[in-house]
Amino acid sequence: MKKTAIVTGSARGIGAAVAKKLASDGYAVAVLDLDESVCAATVDAIVSAGGQALAVGANVAEEASVVAAVERVATELGAPTILINNAGITRDNLLFKMTVEDWDGVMNVHLRGAFLMSRAVQQHMVDAGFGRIVNLSSTSALGNRGQVNYSAAKAGMQGFTKTLAIELGKFGVTANAIAPGFIETEMTAATAERVGVGFEDFKKAAASQIPVNRVGQPEDIANTASFLASEGAGFVSGQVIYVAGGPKD
Ligand SMILES: NC(=O)c1ccc[n+]([C@@H]2O[C@H](COP(=O)([O-])OP(=O)(O)OC[C@H]3O[C@@H](n4cnc5c(N)ncnc54)[C@H](O)[C@@H]3O)[C@@H](O)[C@H]2O)c1
Repeated sequence: MKKTAIVTGSARGIGAAVAKKLASDGYAVAVLDLDESVCAATVDAIVSAGGQALAVGANVAEEASVVAAVERVATELGAPTILINNAGITRDNLLFKMTVEDWDGVMNVHLRGAFLMSRAVQQHMVDAGFGRIVNLSSTSALGNRGQVNYSAAKAGMQGFTKTLAIELGKFGVTANAIAPGFIETEMTAATAERVGVGFEDFKKAAASQIPVNRVGQPEDIANTASFLASEGAGFVSGQVIYVAGGPKD
């Protein structure tokens, strides 16, 4: 029987690429995002390539929404044993201008969201004696001007990941984090707009600082997630893999 994966925030960007890659790896994929209708493009791409996918509307920061979504996936697609906590937002500002709403909003989607999703799927993984949790961190975890909220959340994702690995390892469940550098998505396009630089120039400037001399693409993250989700990655747990075109701390 096919294994089932849930990819949060997979209507677009990195999540969409991860969902498509996992579907091509042979998993049934729940494409979860805020609104079921926005999941259609990812679901259609998977189905037209011969894969299996289900659109699920849910807010990862809301407990009841998460519980209902995971139950629906288990019933309609099969017990989820692969979880990619990818949903994310930015609310950038310098500390002195950052509002409590901007702080809480970022914490809620990344940390509360990853906690609620992981808690909701863990029983399925424990029952199966197999599970893979992959959390999206970021190079911003190492510190990034204008992102005190996001940086704290992404550093938090790393501690969360390591503790999941320790608690769930004996049940056949691994937990790892991917920390992407600059990836070309709507999130980085919005950052360029916020700082008043055209996206092409913004990407060029970023690429000049990256050892492999290019910015990342969502597929770069999807390929790493595919490895971490695989059976063969069962002895890799509690790790943070920087996928940034060069070394990071
Ligand atoms: N793009 C980058 O350079 C980069 C770098 C490092 C880390 N990341 C991380 O990778 C992940 C994906 O980033 P992206 O660039 O594809 O972003 P994106 O903005 O293109 O996509 C994020 C998706 O998450 C969804 N989402 C937001 N809040 C949600 C919620 N409460 N519940 C469910 N879905 C929600 C959005 O609707 C959207 O479809 C994020 O966690 C981000 O922080 C991105």
